[in-house]
Amino acid sequence: MKLYEQLLDDLSQRIEQGYYPVGTKLPSIRSLSGERAVSISTVQEAYQRLEERGMVEVRPKSGYYVQGRSTAPPLPEVSRPAQRPLEVSHWDQVYHLLNSNKGEGHIALGTAMPEIDTPTLKPLKKGLIDAAKLDGAAFLNYCDVKGSEKLRQQIARLALDSGCQLHPDEIIVTSGCQEALVCSLRAVTNPGDVVAVDSPSFYGSTQAIKALGLKALEIPTHPETGISLEALELALEQWPVKAIQVTPTCNNPLGYTMPEERRKALLRLAQQYDLPIIEDDIYGDLFYKSPRPKTIKSFDDEGRVLLCSSFSKTIAYGLRLGWVAPGQCTERVLHKKFVSTVSNPPVQQEAVAEFIAQGSYERHIRKLRMQYQHSRDVMIDLVEELFPPGTRISYPKGGYLLWVELPIEVDTVKLNKRLEASNISIAPGVIFSASGKYRNCMRLNFAKKLDETMRQALRQVAAEAQLLIEEA
Ligand SMILES: Cc1ncc(COP(=O)(O)O)c(C=O)c1O
Repeated sequence: MKLYEQLLDDLSQRIEQGYYPVGTKLPSIRSLSGERAVSISTVQEAYQRLEERGMVEVRPKSGYYVQGRSTAPPLPEVSRPAQRPLEVSHWDQVYHLLNSNKGEGHIALGTAMPEIDTPTLKPLKKGLIDAAKLDGAAFLNYCDVKGSEKLRQQIARLALDSGCQLHPDEIIVTSGCQEALVCSLRAVTNPGDVVAVDSPSFYGSTQAIKALGLKALEIPTHPETGISLEALELALEQWPVKAIQVTPTCNNPLGYTMPEERRKALLRLAQQYDLPIIEDDIYGDLFYKSPRPKTIKSFDDEGRVLLCSSFSKTIAYGLRLGWVAPGQCTERVLHKKFVSTVSNPPVQQEAVAEFIAQGSYERHIRKLRMQYQHSRDVMIDLVEELFPPGTRISYPKGGYLLWVELPIEVDTVKLNKRLEASNISIAPGVIFSASGKYRNCMRLNFAKKLDETMRQALRQVAAEAQLLIEEA
């Protein structure tokens, strides 16, 4: 690690942990350089990166100040899930959410769909048509089980941004991140095994745990720093856990991004207990600041981490294009991929590979990151203004999902039912827990620009929530 990176990490942690509260002036460049015995340019580089991350601002002729939302609404509580392995429930609610997009006029506030109505996707749409035209016969054939080499090369190139040096042969293309997660789980567990997960947790991975006859052990999770390593260690001492599954960057649904030190500590814990980590990085490229955080995989030199991701959140859900870099488990995951769907259709792979190679992916991502960051702030302000007192809200640093914790009287399954009449849906909290916790929570999507229709829908959700409180 370079000197400025060490300093950057240290300062970021001090800011995140409140040692330097919002509004505080950081030490001058000269004094910090003397104090840490590093060059002026090292401190300048670290401060510049902090500024790029939006953690500090420069005030001309004055210095660097810690930046933040001075009147930020309170974050959700640290979760306290059941402290034993459980069978996952609530598939009916998940299915309801998946089918909630009821066409024309429906406002699906709860899905995890990205913005797809953007000019930055034009080159991809054209590329899909061109790819099909180029060599129709080749595209009717089936592809290598591992996926198109051209696409794997591009994925390997993108992985460099997250600190990962991957050879294309270490990557397997899958049908979305869901298949990457399922193949990974199947490769490292047997029915009846226990998998430790963050909580709340993405319902796709917990439903996969259910479908594979596994049990989920939900670990308390902090809304800013992620899965509690202390609670995880206690759980590993107590239960025969066989794998750890986490989404450490722009987490769905809680929004946290684990600080780098905690990622490394999580990896050390996995090494100590000789466990694989299934790392879901599906929202990683949507981190608002550059550079994006490094994956846990990037610190792993033993092949212990199975890194799963896809283009569903960064480009479009309908492509069904994901991948996994399974490290030591490559052969096992490859076999699971083969028996699952054999391989992926070539047209999408060719078009997406070209989209990345031309630089269009980076342009698209840059634009969306800015749009999502702006929408996050608008959405948080709206929720704060409209929702009942006592509402707590996450503060994601990437992606487009907000976790909202309402007063305890609000049952979001009931709320969702009532919203049906207004053609609105939300994602109720229960689907993000193995045991139906988070009944007073919900996930909202702010990928779409918050126009008057969306604002009206939010007013309706807030009004129904208020009614539920009054009736309780
Ligand atoms: C955290 C997370 N992982 C995986 C998936 C599944 O992604 P895909 O559509 O690529 O299968 C999703 C989709 O919502 C998700 O939010």
